[in-house]
Amino acid sequence: MWKADDRRFIFVTGKGGVGKTTVAAALARALAGRGKRVLISMCNAKERISAMFACAPVGPEIVQVAERIWAVNVIPELAFQEYGRMVLKVPGLYRVVFQNKYVKSFLPAVPGLSDWAMLGKAWYHTTERTEDGRHRFDVVLFDAPATGHGLDMLRVPKVIVDVVPPGVLRRDAETAWRMFKNPKETGVVVVTLPEELPVTETLELVEAIRGELEMPLGMLAVNGVLPALFSDSERNALRTIGITATSKNLADDAVFAAARRAVQEELQVANLARVLAGTSMPHVVLPYLFEDAATPRAIEALSTHF
Ligand SMILES: Nc1ncnc2c1ncn2[C@@H]1O[C@H](COP(=O)(O)OP(=O)(O)OP(=O)(O)O)[C@@H](O)[C@H]1O
Ligand SMILES: [Mg+2]
Repeated sequence: MWKADDRRFIFVTGKGGVGKTTVAAALARALAGRGKRVLISMCNAKERISAMFACAPVGPEIVQVAERIWAVNVIPELAFQEYGRMVLKVPGLYRVVFQNKYVKSFLPAVPGLSDWAMLGKAWYHTTERTEDGRHRFDVVLFDAPATGHGLDMLRVPKVIVDVVPPGVLRRDAETAWRMFKNPKETGVVVVTLPEELPVTETLELVEAIRGELEMPLGMLAVNGVLPALFSDSERNALRTIGITATSKNLADDAVFAAARRAVQEELQVANLARVLAGTSMPHVVLPYLFEDAATPRAIEALSTHF
């Protein structure tokens, strides 16, 4: 079984709204519980981490949100400036290098540069060390934007390596790209739902990560899976009942509701089977929570699956 614990960098990716940030928070909680110091790096995201950890809103500065968990919500323009300053150390140098006429002339032309600012900053935090020589963070969890864009995000270091002239920026992108391709250091966690469209997109995403990008897949997190309520015989009985029928009778309504739920469960089982067969990677199944999932309690419950 693949384990997130020994990785330095984890991409959490998937289609919009499938639960990437929730999974990043739950995984962070699990890793922190096992002694790791974790940074969650979000990309200009709608801020929900504060609800998940019951802390103050998380902005573009790194803040501690729980024991051994830190978070940051990266804004591309600020990240680029900060990244420039971090890499070059001397504040004045940032101006010289990044606001230099020549550099300025090619920067906007570099595809994905603002993506790289966010990813590069997250990567940079894997290289930081504390005064006693330890890594500042054992693991950086990168909460990537939704798939189409998320895939662009994964492509970015390679693009920088290919198109940017030699220099600080390219040297970093090369180092980061080496880390991102190394299965000992990096893993991609793909989040999906047991539904038709998310599954289809996930199969494409996994194919691209494996084929085109040759990046190390970590695990598949199938989120929002309904717990099975019925036995096979109950399910068979419910199958004989139409799901569109209506009645004025409360008891019948309850049975129709059960029949609908049975159908939904069956669809989920089929989609789960399809995504597991199509990706053949280690996986976790996360339950659908019949409560607000953006609470410390829910994140704690989901973390037990990692
Ligand atoms: N297992 C679950 N059970 C119930 N609700 C969930 C579960 N996982 C996530 N949710 C809820 O689904 C919504 C989307 O989750 P989340 O914000 O983590 O998705 P996302 O993939 O990060 O979205 P985006 O693409 O917008 O960043 C949230 O309201 C979240 O609380
Ligand atoms: Mg999110």
